[in-house]
Amino acid sequence: MSAQKEAKVIDGIVKKSGDSSLIAILQEVQSHYNHLPPQVLTLLSAKLEVPLSKLFSLATFYKSFSLEPRGKHIVKVCLGTACHVKSAENLFDKAKRDLDLSAQETTTKDLRFTLEKVRCLGCCSLAPVVCINEDTYGSMTQEKLSATFKKYR
Ligand code: FES
Repeated sequence: MSAQKEAKVIDGIVKKSGDSSLIAILQEVQSHYNHLPPQVLTLLSAKLEVPLSKLFSLATFYKSFSLEPRGKHIVKVCLGTACHVKSAENLFDKAKRDLDLSAQETTTKDLRFTLEKVRCLGCCSLAPVVCINEDTYGSMTQEKLSATFKKYR
């Protein structure tokens, strides 16, 4: 994306955000780009006359923000206690294999999926639980997980 086009996007987001907080603006930027590209943060810093260090500190403090490109679909495998005792770690390993991710990778090369571990999704009675975007899947099995991924491909 050209710097000119990025500047136009940032102008639009800032204009639309009005007096919103920096966090709300960063959420809008992340929603648009699916992450917070550093070059866009630089433009935003200049536009808002806010130190770039402040934007980076917010972007790195909140786990919901990412400076790295993320997949279109965010897969969260719960490894909280209730899910852990129901073999959620095996589900996570299966997800890695299904998504063809190496040990260090969290996002597929085609940017379709990002895989994350989380600690309790607040629905322990459904353990083990996997969320894909806003969808929650309880009593998950390795077989069901593979079939579920197909819905998002
Ligand atoms: S431990 Fe997994 S939902 Fe609570």
